[in-house]
Amino acid sequence: MISTSVLLFFTVLTGSAYGHVIKNDQKQHNQNVGIIDGHRIYIEQAPFMASIRLYGLIHACGGAIIHERFILTSAQCAETNSYLKVYVGTRKIYEGGKAYDVVKNIKHEIYSVQTGDYDVGLLKLNESLTFGPTVAKVLLNEGTMLNVTGFGFTDPDNVFSNIVLRQATVPVIPKDLCMRYHYNFQVTQRMMCTNAMVNDPCMGDEGGPLTWNNIQVGIISVRTGCGQLPTIYTDVKAVNQWIKKTIEKHDTEEK
Ligand SMILES: *[C@@H]1O[C@H](CO)[C@@H](O)[C@H](O)[C@H]1NC(C)=O
Ligand SMILES: *[C@@H]1O[C@H](CO)[C@@H](O)[C@H](O)[C@H]1NC(C)=O
Repeated sequence: MISTSVLLFFTVLTGSAYGHVIKNDQKQHNQNVGIIDGHRIYIEQAPFMASIRLYGLIHACGGAIIHERFILTSAQCAETNSYLKVYVGTRKIYEGGKAYDVVKNIKHEIYSVQTGDYDVGLLKLNESLTFGPTVAKVLLNEGTMLNVTGFGFTDPDNVFSNIVLRQATVPVIPKDLCMRYHYNFQVTQRMMCTNAMVNDPCMGDEGGPLTWNNIQVGIISVRTGCGQLPTIYTDVKAVNQWIKKTIEKHDTEEK
């Protein structure tokens, strides 16, 4: 069971790595893309940011604090039977912060790996977070010019280069324009897109939050190649009911 989930996680990682190799020849157009670009930030500027660690060690995904016991992430990041820890309150990927054990990981019941639809998941922590200047929650809503925050790669070829939290401002693009780029992919009602040519999330950023001020509007979902094609997010307002319902259901349980 454990090895299956490990495989799953690494399939996700290598799957996108292949994408980058294929798209390498287009890279010249995109030298300045990314959380790849963006800028370093202090955790106080994004205190909602969480790092999801596979086996409690390896940064695998981003997440956002939306409740004292729950982290919002993508379904693909919640879909594992492996031991997970969540780190909050630090801008350094392997330094500082406070760790919490994940006691429950829940992906949306109708999430599809094939289509990427309903890519939303929640992680329940072993105890309530202590909020302060470096640990705080985001609210869930929508906006237009949004901040994307992550510990992910800063260069498609430079594995695990980003050890300090970064943030970039990305423009939301209309769904029909997004579909024109992703002509072989169904952009559903649960999805939204940002222009990757300006700034873009990269590997290790998925599951992380797209925010407007302190309001979460998206979850980094389908990585399409750091700065190559518009990035697809799960639209938080489309899965808001699921998030609320799931937290309510599991909040009062022992685990
Ligand atoms: C929750 O998990 C963290 C990290 O492993 C640990 O330090 C802490 O003691 C745990 N809290 C409880 C109440 O078990
Ligand atoms: C983006 O983040 C910066 C801080 O890094 C903040 O000043 C700005 O207001 C944020 N913009 C949005 C739209 O959230």
